[in-house]
Amino acid sequence: MSRRLAWLILAAAACSAERPAPLAEEPVPVAAVDDDPDPRTLSIRLEAREAEVTYGAGPATRAWAYDGKVPGPLIEATVGQRLVVRFENHLPEPTTIHWHGIRLPAAMDGSLAMQSPIAPGETFEYAFTLKDAGLYWYHPHVRSDVQVERGLYGAIRVRGPDEPDVDEEKILVLDDVRLRPDGSLPEHLDDASKMMGRQGNTVLVNGRANAALYVRPGAAVRFRVVNVANGRFFNLRLPGVTWRVIGTDGGLLAAPYDTERLLVAPGERYDLLWLAPASPGKQAVLTSEPYERGHHSGDEPSIAVATVHFRGDPVAAPRALPSSFPAIERLPDGPIDTPLVLGERTDERGDLAFTINDATYPDVPPISAPAGAVHVFDVRNESDMDHPFHLHGFFFQVLERGGRHTADDGWERTANKDTMIVRAGSRARIAARLDEPGMWMYHCHILEHAEYGMMGELHVH
Ligand code: C2O
Ligand code: CU
Repeated sequence: MSRRLAWLILAAAACSAERPAPLAEEPVPVAAVDDDPDPRTLSIRLEAREAEVTYGAGPATRAWAYDGKVPGPLIEATVGQRLVVRFENHLPEPTTIHWHGIRLPAAMDGSLAMQSPIAPGETFEYAFTLKDAGLYWYHPHVRSDVQVERGLYGAIRVRGPDEPDVDEEKILVLDDVRLRPDGSLPEHLDDASKMMGRQGNTVLVNGRANAALYVRPGAAVRFRVVNVANGRFFNLRLPGVTWRVIGTDGGLLAAPYDTERLLVAPGERYDLLWLAPASPGKQAVLTSEPYERGHHSGDEPSIAVATVHFRGDPVAAPRALPSSFPAIERLPDGPIDTPLVLGERTDERGDLAFTINDATYPDVPPISAPAGAVHVFDVRNESDMDHPFHLHGFFFQVLERGGRHTADDGWERTANKDTMIVRAGSRARIAARLDEPGMWMYHCHILEHAEYGMMGELHVH
C-alpha cells in the first residue's frame, strides 16, 4: 500500500469518528395489516405470545406481546368500519382482549362478565363496528395487572370526518416498567406496588426508553396520548409549549381548552395540539411533573418522558389551532343515582384490599339498570388516594365534582369520557346513556386495584 493511500484511509477513519452519533430512531407503532380488500371491513390477525423485546440500551426483556411487539400493532380505522380480529392465544395462560373505550356489543367486550377466558392454544374472533372517532386501546381483561405490565397493549386510532389539519400527528403510548439489571421484570408483587400500582424505573414511549421525537420547526403538532401504565399518572409538560386539549377518551371536545400541564391517568386518552418553536436545531424534554395522588407520591421527582427535537424543513406558513369542534349532546342530570363508594382497607390477614361499597369483586352486588335510559352514578372516593374510574361500554359526562356542578363551560360536562380521575376524598357524579344491553364492568384503572377488589358489574337489560 502506498503511503499516500494509507494516509487517506487513516484520514477517512478519523473523519467518521468525529461525525456526530446518528440520531436515535423515533419509535412509531407499526400498523396492523388489513387482509380484507373490502374497505368497509378491517380484518386482522392478532396473536398473543411470549417475545423478546428491547426497551432501551440494556439487555432484552422476555415480554408478553401482541404479534411480538410492544406496543402491539396499531389498529388504523375510520368511523363506520367493521373491525374483525382473529385472535390466537399462544400465552402460557388464559386471556381475553378488551377494547378499551369502544362502544360495542357486550359479547365482544372481552371482560369476564361476558366471555370465558381464551385458553392457551385457543382462538376467538372479535367483530364489531367502530361507531366513534377517537384514540382507543386494547389489552387483556384476565389478570390484567400482570398481563398488561408484561407488554400486552396496543392503540386503535379511529378517524372521523372532523379531524383537524395539522403538520404532524404522533401517537404516544405511555407506559413504565421496572427493569432489573438483567432486563427481566419482577415476578413478585410487593406491597408498595399493590398500593400504588406497579410503577417502573423506565418510562416508555411506544415501547422505547429515552425516546426521541422529531418535529419540524413551526409545525402544528398533534399528540394522541394514551396512558397504558398500571399505576403511573403522567403529568405532562413540554417547556415553552402550551397544549391545546382538543379531545379526550371518546373523541374531540366541542370546546378545546389550553393548559401548560396535562394530567393523564392510567386508561385515559388526550388529544393535544401545539405549535413547535420556529427556530430549528433546538430540543425540549417532555417531562412528567410531580403529582400527589396519595401516599406522598407527589414527592417523587420530575422525570423525562422523551426528547423532542425540532429539525427538518421549517413549516413556512404557521397554522391557527382550531378552537371548536361539533357540539356533543348534553346528557341530562337524572334521578337515578347509584352510589359507588371507593375504599381501601387491610383485612384480618394484613392483606390490602380495594373496595366498592365495602365489598371486593366478585362480591360487589351488580348494579341493575334499564336499557336505553340515562343513568347517574355517584362515585365517592373515601380512600386516601386518587382512583381512575373506568366504565366499559358507554361514554359518560361529568355532571358534578366534589359537590360542585361542573361549570356550564366546564369541558367535562360535554366530553365523552370513559375513564376519569376521582381524587382522594372527593366525589364525582357522572351520567351515561345505557344504550347497549349486557353485563358491563366498571373498575379502577390502577390494575392492581381492580384485581384486588375495586371492580364491579353493571347489568343493563
Ligand atoms: Cu382498560 Cu376494564 O379496562
Ligand atoms: Cu384505584
